[in-house]
Amino acid sequence: MITDKELIQKAFEAQSYSYTPYSHFQVGAALLSNSGKVYLGCNIENAAYSPTNCAERTAFFKAVSEGTRGFRKIVIVGNPEGTAQGEGRYCAPCGVCRQVMAEFCNHDGFEIILAVSDTDYKSYKLKELLPLGFTNEDLE
Ligand code: THU
Repeated sequence: MITDKELIQKAFEAQSYSYTPYSHFQVGAALLSNSGKVYLGCNIENAAYSPTNCAERTAFFKAVSEGTRGFRKIVIVGNPEGTAQGEGRYCAPCGVCRQVMAEFCNHDGFEIILAVSDTDYKSYKLKELLPLGFTNEDLE
């Protein structure tokens, strides 16, 4: 299984593909499935602004659209263009992305790693970042 350090490096690779001509804020994500496959995601902006997709959702939608629905962890890196690795801040997922995680991930088990470099990162459980979330169980 891939190490956290390697998964962080994958998130930085994904960040290099981000398309951010408007915000100049580049985000990369590396999503690890239960089977060990890694899905990369970057933010993809648009002249009409609202079609913009976050890095995390790009990774999730790539995975789900290829038949994968079980996940272990995601690494997120995000900072303004031109920030050197290790010089940024922790980039937390937006509320919409947390809700997408809640749809496909175990709230106790799924890990969200916010990285500044492959030696400077912190880890949260989904339940910490989305307490009292609305899920499919609420529809029963
Ligand atoms: N963004 C992400 O990709 N993920 C986040 O968790 C926060 C925000 C993107 C959206 C937009 O392209 C840019 O960062 C500035 O909001």
